[in-house]
Amino acid sequence: MTFYKQGLAFGYVQGTKYCRDRTMKDNLGSIPATQRFKSYPEVERLQLPEPDLSRPANLWQCLAKRRSERDYTTDPLAIEELSRLMWAAQGVTARAGTHLLRTAPSAGALYPFETYLYIDRVEKVTQGLYHFNVADFSLECLQDGNFNQLITTACLGQPVVRRAAVVFIWTAIMLRCMVKYRDRAMRYIPMDLGHVCQNVQLAATAMDLGSCPIGAFYDDDINELLGVDGEEEAVLYLITVGRLNR
Ligand SMILES: Cc1cc2nc3c(=O)[nH]c(=O)nc-3n(C[C@H](O)[C@H](O)[C@H](O)COP(=O)(O)O)c2cc1C
Repeated sequence: MTFYKQGLAFGYVQGTKYCRDRTMKDNLGSIPATQRFKSYPEVERLQLPEPDLSRPANLWQCLAKRRSERDYTTDPLAIEELSRLMWAAQGVTARAGTHLLRTAPSAGALYPFETYLYIDRVEKVTQGLYHFNVADFSLECLQDGNFNQLITTACLGQPVVRRAAVVFIWTAIMLRCMVKYRDRAMRYIPMDLGHVCQNVQLAATAMDLGSCPIGAFYDDDINELLGVDGEEEAVLYLITVGRLNR
């Protein structure tokens, strides 16, 4: 059974191995440094409330209870809940030189991704598409409006997306990681995002909200919606969050 060796995945894993007896070679040339995180200074900004971290949650119970939940009510989330979810995803917890260290680990502390939100229903927040500004814990409003049908269709029509109060959308900025790790970066970026997504799921569980990771989507449709080129910056992962229907 060697058919799989013809595929992209096999070639990629073989080509990005670290080996003691040979160095990884590529012909990428010098890779320009990219900005540490994106911001949209020209758009309206919504400051998220300071996350209330005082409410206790039992880690072991959260791990035991965490599930991918797909049935949500039509009730909105509270902005305080959104703030805690956002902090769990990408809150800054320390500084190391110019690095802003976060709640989730990242290879080389490079955080080669950006967080966007489609907010369908959050109290006191206008429905629309937002970008998360890491440095000042705010949401940058990219576009007001109802994008529910567009995002649902882009996610292969999955009802869980239609029912979500909020959809987190993560893009990868590959060059931000490739500067240090060259082609091996594409191993690390999905690992990084896996940590982030699990943080959101655990935070949702702690607040008795439902969440579901989403890996099935039409890439180009989501990239177009976000206004990213799908090459230097491209969608990689989503997660839905909503109030549980039980
Ligand atoms: C990378 C990844 C992609 C996923 N994509 C989807 C998806 O597109 N739609 C969906 O309903 N669930 C998706 N899931 C959720 C899985 O179906 C779910 O994690 C799995 O069935 C195990 O269930 P549990 O998370 O409740 O333990 C995804 C999970 C991961 C980790």
